[in-house]
Amino acid sequence: MERRTFIKKSAIGIVAGSALLESCMKVEPVPVSMASDNFSNLLGFPKVIQNPQDYVMTAKSTLAKVNNNGMTEMLSYMENMSTGPLFKMQKGHDFSLLFKNNLDEHTNIHWHGLLIPAKMDGHPNDVVHANESFNYRFTVNQRAGAYWYHPHPHEATARQTYMGLAGMIIVNDAEEAALKLPSGELELPLIISDKRLTNNALLYNPTTNEVMSGYMGETITVNGIAFPFTEITNTTYRLRILNASNARIYNLAFSNNLPFTVIGSDGGLLENSVKVTSLLLCPAERIDILVDFGKLSLGDVAFLKSNTFPNGSKAQGQEEFSLMKFIVKKTVSENYTIPARLSTIERLAISSKTRNFKLQMKMGLRMTHRINNKLYESNRIDETVKAGDTETWIFNNSSDEPHPMHIHGVQFQISERSGNRGILPHEKGWKDVVLLLPNEIVKVTMKFPDNKGKYMVHCHNLEHEDDGMMLQFEIV
Ligand code: C2O
Ligand code: CU
Ligand code: CU
Repeated sequence: MERRTFIKKSAIGIVAGSALLESCMKVEPVPVSMASDNFSNLLGFPKVIQNPQDYVMTAKSTLAKVNNNGMTEMLSYMENMSTGPLFKMQKGHDFSLLFKNNLDEHTNIHWHGLLIPAKMDGHPNDVVHANESFNYRFTVNQRAGAYWYHPHPHEATARQTYMGLAGMIIVNDAEEAALKLPSGELELPLIISDKRLTNNALLYNPTTNEVMSGYMGETITVNGIAFPFTEITNTTYRLRILNASNARIYNLAFSNNLPFTVIGSDGGLLENSVKVTSLLLCPAERIDILVDFGKLSLGDVAFLKSNTFPNGSKAQGQEEFSLMKFIVKKTVSENYTIPARLSTIERLAISSKTRNFKLQMKMGLRMTHRINNKLYESNRIDETVKAGDTETWIFNNSSDEPHPMHIHGVQFQISERSGNRGILPHEKGWKDVVLLLPNEIVKVTMKFPDNKGKYMVHCHNLEHEDDGMMLQFEIV
């Protein structure tokens, strides 16, 4: 019996070993070609919860509608809904949530972009076991902006997020309210995520190559709906866009080259609004944009799409595709003037320390994604920083893959990017994630808040993160 088990194991070992060896020698990420459709599924919106207090939220497996072809089994924070609730909070709000885990595995919640105590931040060691619960509570004390939440248990973040556990947070404050930006029906949260749907079933089973490129789907969903449409008035809309995809980067644009105005990014409003016709949005990034549909007439349509882009490695940026359709159902004749000046951003200048983070792909028994030659180790503190200190961190991407780098517990400013991309319009405000295309070097500066404890710095290509492309720093 023992011998048989041994033989069986080693046979599997040989097969797996040679497959891995093959993939080590030839890592050839291939782009997933996009599905097409006539955009006939009605776009839905997450349920809004205003200033949650003692809100009860349960992670569970549920059936939800992704398209008109029936129900899809997924994981969700809401019964029969493919996106978690949208938490709208006023700056200063005391958030409290009773989180129940009805999955058959451990999970937790990371509040991406929020400046909160380490014990509430969803550290990979702080998991909520199956059938247990945890009370998340913290004060929301930061700029108005769009943030988000998703699970963070090591080696399961990618799968759990992909299977549907994600939601948006919108923080409002007096400064933003004074601008009187389009609101109500004219402010749309749009959570973008690519899925792989086989006969309407959602599967997560990345191959070795897909751990290298990240897991990408052929079907783009917006707020959990594939090929969606929404009806609009031909006026100016405020779109709060989150890229909640595991790995896919979008070069967002509108059909007919319709320009749009960027007013905010990860950490809230920019100083000045900037008109553009396309913008690269990497996993975990948010943009706040104003789009004037005023030139469209009754019945006209416009698409939010993704254009091709260079240097995205073999797997990304090769194809142009549409994400969603806007149809003009009503016309109005009003003229909205976009404010030029939005906010003030105090520049961080003098840093007390510079740290270097080398982003690498290493060949070992199998290829692994590393930072400074290290794989994530939950009991190792990789960097120690002082609360109140201003530091400059330099990310150096020496691999031939894109890496969206994210830092927990802080918002940073991007001061430099090597090469010819420069600093993009939405990168001129506060950020918590920054994209490094192959061979780029990016410098970010930040001031650590007085929240002592352990936080993460990692690649937000979630397959890379689960593969170990994550380090731990402690604020002391
Ligand atoms: Cu949204 Cu540690 O991540
Ligand atoms: Cu985060
Ligand atoms: Cu990466």
